[in-house]
Amino acid sequence: MKKIIRQLSNMKLPGCITAGTITGSIILLFAFTPQQQTKEWDAPDMAKSKRNPIAANDASIAAGKAIYTINCYNCHGKKGKGDGPKSADLPVSPRDFTKEQFQKQSDGSMFWKITEGRKPMPSFKKDLTDDQRWQVINYVRTLGIKK
Ligand code: HEC
Repeated sequence: MKKIIRQLSNMKLPGCITAGTITGSIILLFAFTPQQQTKEWDAPDMAKSKRNPIAANDASIAAGKAIYTINCYNCHGKKGKGDGPKSADLPVSPRDFTKEQFQKQSDGSMFWKITEGRKPMPSFKKDLTDDQRWQVINYVRTLGIKK
C-alpha cells in the first residue's frame, strides 16, 4: 500500500487530479467495501475450557448488565440481537446473542473473544478487568433465556 502511494505521489498528473485525490479515493474505496467475515470466529481449545470463576448470581448479573450498557449496548443492542444504534454503521453485523448457536459456546470461549476482539469488535483486554469480563458474560447468558 505504502509503495503504491509513493508511486502515485511521484507521478505527474494534469490539472486538478492530484496524487492526493487518488490516494484518498483508494483509501475511501477500502474503507467502504463491505467486508464479509468469512472465517468462523473460534477460540483456541485452551481458552474454551477456562472456567468462569464468578458465580452467576443476582449481584454479578447486575454488575454485568451495567458493564454491558456502557460497553456493548451500542453495537449489540438492548436485548443482544445485534441491533444497537451503532450496528448499522458496522461493516460486519454483531451476532445475535439470543440464538442457541451463540449461547452453546462456553464461557471461556466468550471470554477469549471479548478479551481479544476481532474488527470491528474491539478488544476489552485493557478497558475491562478479568472479573468484569466474566460478569458481563453472566449477563449475556440471561439474554439467551426465552421469556
Ligand atoms: C463496535 C461495536 C461492538 C462493540 C462495542 C462490542 N462488540 Fe461484540 N461484536 C461486534 C461484532 C461486529 C461482532 C462480530 C465479529 C465477527 O464476527 O468477527 C461481535 C462479536 C462478539 C462476540 C462473539 C460472537 C460469537 O458469535 O461468538 C461476543 C462474545 C461479543 N461480541 C461480546 C461483546 C461484549 C460482551 C461487548 C461489551 C463488553 C462487546 N461485544 C462490544 C461488535 C461490537
